Amino acid sequence: MEVRRHNAAFCSPCFLRHCREQVSRTVEAFDMIRPGERVLVAVSGGKDSLALWDILLDAGVDAAGLYLGLGIGDYSDASGGRARAYAEARGAHLVEIDLPADLGFDIPAGAAAARRVPCSACGLSKRHLFNKAAVEGGYDAVATGHNLDDEAAVLLGNVLRWDLAYLGRQAPALPAGAGFVRKVKPLVRLSERETAAYCVLKGIDYIVEECPMSAGNRHLGYKEALNAIEERSPGSKAAFYFGFLERVAPTMVAAAEEEREGLHPCPVCGMPTVSELCAFCKLVERAGGRPAGRPLRSGRSGPADPAAGRPL
Ligand code: AMP
Ligand code: FES
Ligand code: ZN
Repeated sequence: MEVRRHNAAFCSPCFLRHCREQVSRTVEAFDMIRPGERVLVAVSGGKDSLALWDILLDAGVDAAGLYLGLGIGDYSDASGGRARAYAEARGAHLVEIDLPADLGFDIPAGAAAARRVPCSACGLSKRHLFNKAAVEGGYDAVATGHNLDDEAAVLLGNVLRWDLAYLGRQAPALPAGAGFVRKVKPLVRLSERETAAYCVLKGIDYIVEECPMSAGNRHLGYKEALNAIEERSPGSKAAFYFGFLERVAPTMVAAAEEEREGLHPCPVCGMPTVSELCAFCKLVERAGGRPAGRPLRSGRSGPADPAAGRPL
């Protein structure tokens, strides 16, 4: 496996070690997970989040999965199936929230009713429900499978629009506070090609198809542009993203903290918001769903990992 940005090539065992090392280096550098903490890994059934869950479990982290059923037809059925199959094979705990069953709406219909593009309604629902599930379950952090390609593409989009509020929130670890659990992205040192290879080598079955609602999504265009640059100059993507983290992100921390100061609990769901009713509760209302005030019903697959709880 050739990794051009590191000017390196690995055999299978060394490649797996490389992936684990990149994750533990990231976890340590950004103080993402401390010994004995409980982590909720948001698992979509795709290569990134399954690789992340696998790496954390192998490292002895007390890591449960969280799968969100978005109600996107066959795509959701297939992705939920992959998350459940992995949890079962691994004997790991999987929390499940199903938008249609638990909240009375799905992303395609909900987004149309709320006059939002599906990816925006979906992103909003994910951010809200990941945090709510982690707060209610007493987890210390939510981990997502965002990789280097994802983060560099989001950064490019934010820079093209000079969206300072989003840039301020782009750090791979956002601290807990004011109703939020810590949010961490331990895969930012791995590209999507690497996470796919990791799953293939470990025999992890993941959903290959992209979400059918993401066609024409702006981020796919940013990814293609960055891939073209990376092809000509290997290492550009990492230099762009890590240069931002080193030189620009630290100057934006105060603004991001200030933004959090104006938050208060949403009167319906209790999650932090700047407006009267939080954006998620507004979406649920417009989509004709059920208010999310009560604790969510959650399913479980397999027992908690008995080897969990050791430090990374
Ligand atoms: P995406 O927003 O689809 O690029 O996914 C980014 C990350 O969000 C994934 O790596 C997962 O950690 C998480 N995620 C996406 N979809 C789901 C889902 N349906 N259930 C749980 N986590 C998800
Ligand atoms: Fe959210 Fe496709 S996964 S719109
Ligand atoms: Zn709310």
